[in-house]
Amino acid sequence: MIEQIDGRNTRIKDVREIKLKRINLSNGALTAINSVSDIPFEINRVYYLYDVPNNSDRGAHGHRELYQLIVAASGSFEITLYDGHDSKKYVLRQPDEGLLIPPGLWRDLKNFSGGGICLVLASMLYSEDDYIRDFSQYERFKKGN
Ligand code: TYD
Repeated sequence: MIEQIDGRNTRIKDVREIKLKRINLSNGALTAINSVSDIPFEINRVYYLYDVPNNSDRGAHGHRELYQLIVAASGSFEITLYDGHDSKKYVLRQPDEGLLIPPGLWRDLKNFSGGGICLVLASMLYSEDDYIRDFSQYERFKKGN
């Protein structure tokens, strides 16, 4: 496990777009993600968003300590990250590309394509205490309050 970063101090520059290995087989492709060696955290939870209507927004929260790797396992969607100062929009559409999100960033997901699947590998088990769901509270968190 990499050193836990304080979510208050993280910025957009700490986000990494990770190219995952694509194994091409005669009968399709395969991508494997190995805990710790391919991504800088131990995977403790996997979840995925699916059947998301095109006009629905997801996310709209920050995490205090959670690291995540997000992959468009199928289809595509947009994710906008905000660090209290700057924001950046990413379009995920390749199953062999991952977005590594450190703790402390606000995220909004939208524009899911039909059949879009957002696969999330997470460093921690689900804990509602790790969420910041109120935007004003998030802004205060990033200012150290
Ligand atoms: P939430 O993380 O708010 O969804 P999203 O960011 O995709 O819009 O979670 C939605 C609901 O699912 C919420 O009631 C908590 C529950 N949930 C779990 O029970 N376990 C999990 O691992 C996650 C991510 C959510």
